[in-house]
Order: sequence, then structure tokens, then C-alpha cells
Amino acid sequence: MNAHTNLKGAADAPFYLAQGDECALFEAASANNLPILLKGPTGCGKTRFVSHMAARLGRPLYTVACHDDLSAADLIGRYLLKGGETVWVDGPLTRAVREGAICYLDEVVEARKDVTVVLHPLTDDRRILPIDRTGEELEAAPGFMLVASYNPGYQNILKTLKPSTRQRFLAVEFDFPTPDVEIEVVARESGLAPERVKPLVRLAGKLRALKGQDLEEGVSTRLIVYAASLIAQGMSIDRAVEAAMIEPLTDDADVKRGLLDLVAAIFG
Ligand SMILES: Nc1ncnc2c1ncn2[C@@H]1O[C@H](COP(=O)(O)OP(=O)(O)OP(=O)(O)O)[C@@H](O)[C@H]1O
Ligand SMILES: [Mg+2]
Repeated sequence: MNAHTNLKGAADAPFYLAQGDECALFEAASANNLPILLKGPTGCGKTRFVSHMAARLGRPLYTVACHDDLSAADLIGRYLLKGGETVWVDGPLTRAVREGAICYLDEVVEARKDVTVVLHPLTDDRRILPIDRTGEELEAAPGFMLVASYNPGYQNILKTLKPSTRQRFLAVEFDFPTPDVEIEVVARESGLAPERVKPLVRLAGKLRALKGQDLEEGVSTRLIVYAASLIAQGMSIDRAVEAAMIEPLTDDADVKRGLLDLVAAIFG
């Protein structure tokens, strides 16, 4: 990757406002061939961060949403029948390894242990991917990088990574941005003026304080963007806030009433 493509990538990159030094850390990880694990609550910007960094570094991005049915073959590839012939078709991980791309494993704790073990020779200094079915042993092309993310909050205790997997990754904790950053993010994403976004972010702060008591998870930046987008489109604040920032959080009528009191206290 030369400096020119880097600059071009930066200009075209999807909008991402940094919360701290995560961009520098990602670049350093990439320069040193180190895999990185992003931890943080739903809707706080992990996926956006990865697409931003991939564009900035000028690398293709292969994203895999992990689940407990995901097999090693889904990642690596399989033989498929095509017009009477069997042909080998690379999976997303193999493609990323060959091309020197970024492979992003979203919700990696959902994947079975036998799948995460496939990552081991790729995430230490060997940087190889053995493909048992074809007998190939691929060496990762320069630029190949493995990124994984998960939400430590709502996982049950059994759903964690094996230490031998975990300790192959650098890890960064993400959280919701500070109010100033969040106001800017929501205004940019929704088109609503910052002064009109401000009370929504204040409400979010109050709702997040209820996490662990009345609410399982605090309200995400994503949901504030939804509320602000509805308001920018002309919907009333009450209706937008209810649909985007209250109803998605709980089904419990009592809790909902409590949350609506908070809304009334902020918006009058
Ligand atoms: N720092 C940020 N800069 C720009 N946009 C952001 C930022 N943080 C959050 N957003 C906005 O929030 C939305 C949700 O973020 P994203 O999809 O990256 O969350 P996530 O952390 O990947 O959530 P999940 O764990 O549910 O997949 C984005 O589409 C974007 O609009
Ligand atoms: Mg995501």
C-alpha cells in the first residue's frame, strides 16, 4: 500500500469519529501484523470503525457474522458441484488471507470452539492457514489482518473465548462516546441540528444509568441516530423518542412508564 492509496482511502472512508486513540492503535496493529479484538455494547460504533479503518488503509474487507452453526468450511471454503465438476470455492477467511485483506469476525463468541481454533495458526507469528481439504498451506499475504468483535455484556458466562484464542489478540474496549462526541456523531448521521440532538443525548445518558437495574442494556448510539432521523424527517419528538429510544429497550409496562417520566423531565 503506498501513501497515495492511503490518502485516497481516507477521503472516501465511511464517517467515523474517534473516541480516543483507537485509530492509531488499529494502524499500529496492522503495521505489526497483530490481530485485534473489539469489545463493547451493541450500537457503539464497532462495525463502523472497522469499515472506516479498512477504507483508510485501502484494504478490502470481508465480514463474517458468527453464529453457532458456522462451520470451519463456511470460513475456509468447500468443494462445490458446478456443471458436473467439483470445484474448490474459497470462503471469506481464505479470500482475505490470499488477498491481504481484513477479515472481520463479528460476534466471535457465538462461533464454536472448533471454528475459533482454525484461527490459531493465523494469529500467531506463523500467519498460515492450513486447508485440510485441499492439502494447501496458505501463507497470509502482506496486509492480511484479523479483526473480531463481541459484546461482553449480554453473553452468558459460558460464551467466552478460550484463553488460548483470546490471548492471540490485542483488545480494545469500546463504550458509548462522551456526550460531545455523541452529539456530533448523531447530528452527522441524522442531519438533525446539534442543538436539537443535545436533549436526546442527555436522555440517553439517563437511560444508560439504568443499565443493570431496570434495563439489560443502555440505549445505543444507533438508536439515538434513529430517533434523530425520525425527528429530522418531521416526526414529533415524543413519538420518535418512544419508537426509537423507549420501546426497543423494554417490554415491561411499569419500566416503560418510568422511562417516559424521564422523557417528560427532559423535554417537558
Ligand atoms: N464513533 C462513531 N462515528 C460515527 N458513527 C458512529 C459512531 N458510533 C456510532 N455511530 C453510529 O452508530 C451506528 C451503529 O454503530 P455500529 O453498527 O458500528 O455498532 P456496533 O458497535 O457494530 O453494534 P453491534 O454490536 O450491535 O453490531 C452507526 O451506523 C453509526 O451511525
Ligand atoms: Mg456491529
